[in-house]
Amino acid sequence: MSLIKKCLFPVAGYGTRFLPATKAMPKEMLPIVTKPLIQYAVEEAMAAGITGMAFVTGRGKRALEDHFDISYELKHQIAGSDKEKLLAETRNIIENCTFSYTRQVEMKGLGHAIEVGGNLIGDEPFAVILADDYCVAEDDSVLSQMVKLFDKYQCSIVAIEAVPQDETDRYGIIEGEEEAEGVFRISNMVEKPAAEDAPSNLAIVGRYILTPDIFEILHNTPPGKNGELQITDTLLTQAQQGQVIGYKFHGRRFDCGSVDGYIEAINYTYAQQRD
Ligand code: UTP
Repeated sequence: MSLIKKCLFPVAGYGTRFLPATKAMPKEMLPIVTKPLIQYAVEEAMAAGITGMAFVTGRGKRALEDHFDISYELKHQIAGSDKEKLLAETRNIIENCTFSYTRQVEMKGLGHAIEVGGNLIGDEPFAVILADDYCVAEDDSVLSQMVKLFDKYQCSIVAIEAVPQDETDRYGIIEGEEEAEGVFRISNMVEKPAAEDAPSNLAIVGRYILTPDIFEILHNTPPGKNGELQITDTLLTQAQQGQVIGYKFHGRRFDCGSVDGYIEAINYTYAQQRD
């Protein structure tokens, strides 16, 4: 059995790129056709053998909690109809997973959100999924690939992807030695560098496996770029000890934090479902 039992979902961000849709609704509830981003993320964690779902939420995010709960009125309304099957996957998740929530009161960055989530995790390695990075894979889910790698390397693992050189300023960018095909031992990482300062074009995307010493490091890391506590700065401390692997996953990622990526994801998924 895998050592990774819990997945943290930092979902406290404002999602300002999707205003006005996200004025009163979490970005993570935006649907890819009919299923919200957060449900895809939870299903990906389940496919990796994880059952403990831990959310770092914020104001205006209650719809997320309601989504992973029973709606008796709705259940009654569609009982005996064809539509019951539309809720079967959600019911399966609710019956097989546990859900816990904590709030990030001030949005002080992804690193801060993870630090806040520490009280839901405890002293064990854990996964992190950013639901707005929507990942599809043919066989093994992206997180499942990473959990298997963790069993071998027993250190923090970040999902990486080659991005166009002129987009490095949107990501944490890594530098490292390729130890095995697609597996990099990271020696350095830079948050959102300009193309000319980027050590490579390998970008960290929204899937992580983190060892629990990360909480102590987060606690001692000062705010970085934009005054936010960056997870990249914290991971750098682990990377300098040779304790971070970058993994070029098999599959495809859609940046659903941007309108273009979101529309692309819907078109891709709709075409798949229609076929
Ligand atoms: P983003 O950088 O995409 O920010 O955060 P955002 O606020 O969600 O979106 P925009 O830029 O305003 O449109 C990346 C991930 O980190 C979480 C977000 O919820 C998202 O999943 N996050 C970010 C937090 O949980 N807390 C923070 O303080 C910052």
